[in-house]
Amino acid sequence: MEPILRIENLSKSFTLHNLKKQIKAVDAINFEMQEGEFVGITGKSGSGKSTILKSIYRTYVINEGNIWYLSKKFGRINLAEASEREIVYLRKQEIGYVSQFLNVMPRTTARELVEQAIVEMGNTNFLAEREAEKMLSHFELDEELWDSYPATFSGGEKLRLNIARAMVKRPRLLLLDEPTASLDHASKRKVRELMEQLMREGTTMLGIFHDLEFMKNLCHREYNMNAGHFASVR
Ligand SMILES: Nc1ncnc2c1ncn2[C@@H]1O[C@H](COP(=O)(O)OP(=O)(O)O)[C@@H](O)[C@H]1O
Ligand SMILES: [Mg+2]
Repeated sequence: MEPILRIENLSKSFTLHNLKKQIKAVDAINFEMQEGEFVGITGKSGSGKSTILKSIYRTYVINEGNIWYLSKKFGRINLAEASEREIVYLRKQEIGYVSQFLNVMPRTTARELVEQAIVEMGNTNFLAEREAEKMLSHFELDEELWDSYPATFSGGEKLRLNIARAMVKRPRLLLLDEPTASLDHASKRKVRELMEQLMREGTTMLGIFHDLEFMKNLCHREYNMNAGHFASVR
C-alpha cells in the first residue's frame, strides 16, 4: 500500500541573525506512515520534534527534502512545494494540527469555534450544531461556557476546546504537538478516549507526547529524536 505520508531527507535550519549562527533543528530525516497508523515521537526538549510537525503543516518552509502526502483531493502531493491555495484547502479538509496553544478569533464563542471547523469542511449548519454540542459535552466543557469567549477560559478549558476543535473535523492526518501537556488527569483520559475512537475510524496520527505513560499502548511505533536525528524505538 502506498504510504499516506513519506518524508524524504527533511532538513530544517534556523538562522539566528543576532548571533550570526545557524541551528540545524532537523537533519535529513526519513520515515513513512501507512494510513491508520499512529506514530509517536519522543525526545528531549529542543531535539526538533515540533519542527517536524510544523514542517508537515507548512508552518515552516523546509530547506531540503520532500514531504509526500497522499491527498484525497490532490493525490500524491509534496507539502514542501504545494501552493498556498492547496495548503489552505488541506488544512480545512484533510490535515489537522493541535498544540497546547489556542489561537482563536476574538469575539467567537466556544460553540461557534467548533461549529466553524465543521462548516469549513462543507457540512450543513444543522450538522455542525449537533456535532459541536456532542464534542463540547464529550470534553465536559460546562454548558455555561459554550456561548462564552474562550479568552476568559481557564488553561484547562482552553486546551479541551482546542482539542475538540481539531478532532471534530475527523481529519485524515492529525498532527498532535503535546496537546495534553498541562491537562489534568480526567481531561487527559477524555483526550485518550477520543484518540482511540479516531484510531478505530482510521485516522492517521503523528503525535509528540511528553507524557510517556499516556502514549503507552496507544501508538503503533515510536521514534526517538536526538539533536535533529531520528532513531526508531519500536
Ligand atoms: N522559529 C524558530 N526560530 C529559531 N529557532 C527555532 C525555531 N523553532 C525551533 N527552533 C530551534 O530548533 C531546535 C528544535 O526546536 P523544536 O523543534 O521546537 O524542538 P522540540 O519540539 O523537540 O522541543 C531548537 O534548538 C529550537 O530553538
Ligand atoms: Mg516542541
